[in-house]
Amino acid sequence: MAVQRTFSIIKPDAVKKNVIGKIVSRFESNGLKVVASKMKHLSRQEAEGFYAVHKDRPFFKDLVDFMVSGPVVLQVLEGEDAIAKNRALMGATDPKKAEPGTIRADFAESIDANAVHGSDAPETAAIEIAYFFPACEVYAGR
Ligand code: PPS
Repeated sequence: MAVQRTFSIIKPDAVKKNVIGKIVSRFESNGLKVVASKMKHLSRQEAEGFYAVHKDRPFFKDLVDFMVSGPVVLQVLEGEDAIAKNRALMGATDPKKAEPGTIRADFAESIDANAVHGSDAPETAAIEIAYFFPACEVYAGR
């Protein structure tokens, strides 16, 4: 299986709950290495740009309002099959449908405050990483 990079956001609800370390520990104990990391309070413009692909969906304003409601942790994770591995660790978008033991089942309250974001494909991972991290801020993981 190829080594990949994926982009992760620990969202404002999880930061407020003080579970950053618990979430990062799930990544690390499942073979994902943090190769870039920063805490940031997103501007509305940054959040709208990041989620532009969803701009016509009915929840777009709620999603942006939520993502600017407090600081987030932006990270690049590296490891074998990192994109699918991270999505599996996160669980389903709606925490009520997420498998027990996943991050969303354990730490999220609702579909609109669902603790984490993870890239869904290699192309989107590359775009999302570049949106927040210049190449010089991403370190070689191995
Ligand atoms: S996904 O993750 O792309 O497969 O899921 P999708 O259902 O397409 O949702 C895209 C992002 O929108 C968020 N979302 C919502 N936010 C607020 N309210 C409602 N009802 C809602 N439904 C979905 C969802 O958490 C996804 O955000 P990210 O950050 O990509 O996980």
